[in-house]
Formats: sequence, structure tokens, C-alpha cells
Amino acid sequence: ALPEKVKIVEVGPRDGLQNEKTLVPTEAKIHLINMLSESGLPVIEATSFVSPKWVPQMADQLEVMKGIKKKQGVSYPVLTPNLKGFQAAIKAGASEVAIFGAASELFSKRNINCSVDESLQRFDEVMKAAKEASVPVRGYVSCVVGCPYEGKVAPEKVAHVAKRLYSMGCYEISLGDTIGVGTPGSMTEMLEAVSREVPVSALAVHCHDTYGQALANILVALQMGISVVDSSVAGLGGCPYAQGASGNVATEDVVYMLHGLGIQTGVDITKLMDAGAFICRTINRKTNSKVAQATCKL
Ligand code: HMG
Ligand code: MG
Repeated sequence: ALPEKVKIVEVGPRDGLQNEKTLVPTEAKIHLINMLSESGLPVIEATSFVSPKWVPQMADQLEVMKGIKKKQGVSYPVLTPNLKGFQAAIKAGASEVAIFGAASELFSKRNINCSVDESLQRFDEVMKAAKEASVPVRGYVSCVVGCPYEGKVAPEKVAHVAKRLYSMGCYEISLGDTIGVGTPGSMTEMLEAVSREVPVSALAVHCHDTYGQALANILVALQMGISVVDSSVAGLGGCPYAQGASGNVATEDVVYMLHGLGIQTGVDITKLMDAGAFICRTINRKTNSKVAQATCKL
């Protein structure tokens, strides 16, 4: 059966913008987040506390965190790859963080410069500090169906890393199809393996739409009882360490599908589309959202 309600985790300001080559003005990032807050989204991933040498676009993380208007009831998690990032995030006022691992060794090396095992040790340090500070931690697993460097990824590997993050204390595990190669077939196989190790109520899906399969993949996840979906306004996004990967599934399209299924999201699609139009105008990009492109409005 499908869930009655779905929690959408908006990753546009982070995943959506991290791949932009030209620096987006900090003011525009802040305005985008404020507009998204007004649309009713419950979670907005605001920025990353990663190295500015690795991801220059996220170098204004402190200013973004200080500048946004935090709306009551909305959470604004940030990515923290290590203890240094965690401490900076807390100092900047973050009240939720996310650690990000991978099911593929080569991707882990390229993305965070360490092996999967080393990353889990670093995350353990973050986890301990977070527990002390009572800060909830979300865990990502990247490359859950395929890796840009290793090809197909075995569902057992994904289940293993997901289980480690969950046992460490992550309250939710987001399964990332980083390069958007999954299909409802490979997605189902992967989700079956992961759900043997982690309760479905603690799982989220994070689909990039490179092959145009994201909505179909989300639908099979919903049918398996998953009720948390990551998406990016206007379908912006990509990972700088996964060449050729396109944006996340567009939040507008996910909301349209969910509402069409009678599933509640709390999101006002008109306000959401305004936020999408704003950021596309600002960075001079065409939206990747089909719903935003559609002119035959219902
Ligand atoms: P490193 O170079 O191995 O780090 O990078 P290091 O510990 O050797 O330190 C080197 C320098 O970086 C030092 O500075 C540190 O202080 C500094 P220096 O002495 O040279 O001046 N440093 C930091 N600075 C700021 N913030 C920090 C930090 N840590 C060290 N937290 C590191 C290791 C993890 C930092 C680096 O590889 C990195 O920042 N990687 C982030 C890459 C990234 O952000 N990727 C995109 C996000 S993941 C994603 O998009 C996937 C996802 O969407 C899900 C999906 O789609 O699958 C989540
Ligand atoms: Mg991503």
C-alpha cells in the first residue's frame, strides 16, 4: 500500500547548486531557501560544510546559515564529511547534519578522499559529537545502483553500508542513485536487500534523473512503504565527483505525482514553482521540471 503522507527533503540549495560552475551569489541562495521555506517543505538541506577547495560553490556555508530565515517546524540540515565540518556546522547554528558515505570504493575515494571503511571511522567521530550535542544525523549512501567508476553496484554492498550507518545512530538513511542509472527493476532489487537490514520507516530515496527513471523509481519505493523522498527544485543538481550525472528529480514533479496519488506533502506547488522560477532566472538556466515547463495547466 502507498503511504498516506510523504516527507519531501528538498536538496536544491545544496545538491542543486553544488555543481554550478559560476558562483551563485550568497544572497540568491538565502532568498531561494526562504522561498522554499514558505512553500511548506518540511526539510531543506541548506549547504555543506565541506572543503572550499573541493566544492567552491559551498564556501559561503557560514553566511548562508546565518542569513536564512529559519521557519518554525522546518529543519535545515547540512552536509558534514568529518569532525571539522561538524564543528563548523554547529558553530554556524545548524541543528541537524548529514554524513555521506558510498557503496562504492572508487566513488568514496574521489568524493571524500578516503576508503569506505575510513569514511565510516570519520562518521563515527561525527556521530559521537552529534550525540553529545543532541544533534540528529541523517546518513547518505551514494551509488546505490551504479557507480561512475565501478559500474554496477551489488545490492548487498548498499545494504552493508546502510546498516552500518543505521547502527551508528543515523535516524534516516537516504539511498542515492547518484548517477541516475537505476530502473524500477534495479531499484526494487536494491531496496529489497536494504530493507532486510534497515527498517523501511528509516529509509529515503534520493534519485537523480539522468536516465529519466526517477519518478518511476520513486513510485516503486513508495509501493515498498518508503515515505521519504529527496528532490531538488527545478531539477537542479549533480555531483561534481560524478561526471555526466544530471540533476535530482524535480521537486515540482514529485509533488505533482504525489498529490495525484492522493498522498499529502504539505507543499504548495504554486509557491514551490515560484521558487524554481526564481533560481532558474538567477542562474540563467532552463528548469528541468516537466511540471514547470508544462503550459497546459490543470
Ligand atoms: P582532504 O583533502 O582529504 O582533507 O579532503 P584533509 O583532512 O586532508 O584536509 C585538507 C585540507 O582541507 C585542510 O586544510 C583541512 O583543514 C581542510 P589546509 O590545511 O590544506 O588549509 N578541511 C576542511 N575544510 C573545510 N571543511 C571541512 C574540511 N575538512 C578538511 N569539513 C574532504 C577531505 C572530505 C574534506 C573533502 O574531500 C571534501 O570536502 N569533499 C566533499 C565533496 C562533496 O561535497 N561532494 C558532494 C556532496 S556528496 C553528493 O553530492 C552525493 C549526495 O547528493 C547523494 C547522492 O546523490 O548519491 C549526498
Ligand atoms: Mg545527490
